[in-house]
Amino acid sequence: MSLRLKDKVSIITGGASGIGEATTRIFSDEGSKVVIADLDTDKGKILQDEINLNNGNAIFIKINVANEKEWDQLVDEVIKKWGKIDILVNNAGLSGAKGRAVVEETTLSNWNDVFAVNSTAIMLGTRVVIPHMRNVGGGSIINVSSIFGIVGSPGGAAYHASKGAARTFSKGAAVQYGKDNIRVNSIHPGFTDTPMTLDIHSQKEIRDYRLNMTPLGRLGLPEDIAYGILYLASDESSWVTGTELIVDGGETAW
Ligand SMILES: NC(=O)c1ccc[n+]([C@@H]2O[C@H](COP(=O)([O-])OP(=O)(O)OC[C@H]3O[C@@H](n4cnc5c(N)ncnc54)[C@H](O)[C@@H]3O)[C@@H](O)[C@H]2O)c1
Repeated sequence: MSLRLKDKVSIITGGASGIGEATTRIFSDEGSKVVIADLDTDKGKILQDEINLNNGNAIFIKINVANEKEWDQLVDEVIKKWGKIDILVNNAGLSGAKGRAVVEETTLSNWNDVFAVNSTAIMLGTRVVIPHMRNVGGGSIINVSSIFGIVGSPGGAAYHASKGAARTFSKGAAVQYGKDNIRVNSIHPGFTDTPMTLDIHSQKEIRDYRLNMTPLGRLGLPEDIAYGILYLASDESSWVTGTELIVDGGETAW
């Protein structure tokens, strides 16, 4: 069987942990060269070395995705090393106390911090890869939003709003760059067990509540989301742009 991302070059932000890590591994298994773009040097280097030892092609590049200059540096480095960029997965994200605070408890500084990573970074990354994707006749950009970018919940103001922005940013970019064969889609994970949700999913009451809300009766695994990202990255979705793929065990079907 042919590999689904054979000879592609992919950048995965937040690629060292959780959903990003699963995406990095699956992309590599499917033949892509992978750029692990993350703040976490320890985890990023360990994953890079493991993939390379197993005959893959990975590089870790440290980046704060909210920093414009660091995006320029990262893209320069990737072009120098591998000459092109086919796929960008804007996956790095923040939740935590800043994201989960209700409206009256949200400070302007918390709001801006969450937006910088969950929304602004998506624009910065998309903007800087577009000319390179145009150079190779197209590309695929996948923005990791959330079901909380579509529906509300009892906690969270900045998280909901920043993930909603990721959703409609994707649609705008899809319309603007379809002519260049650059596809832009968003993916909306439901409750998934990762380091981000470890604390919250360890609280029995919250875990049970979330399980009860999920018709398929289990919380998500990082791979459940990564396979959706793989579909949107691969040429199998070559007529899919501006769409939102919900992967949530049915939670938003209520
Ligand atoms: N886990 C869930 O239930 C869930 C649900 C919906 C959406 N999401 C979204 O999925 C994405 C991945 O989340 P996860 O659960 O795998 O989280 P995670 O915490 O396991 O991984 C996030 C990664 O992003 C990196 N990162 C954070 N800020 C960064 C920055 N400024 N620059 C570079 N890297 C940065 C972290 O170092 C980490 O490696 C996020 O956008 C999150 O909002 C997660």
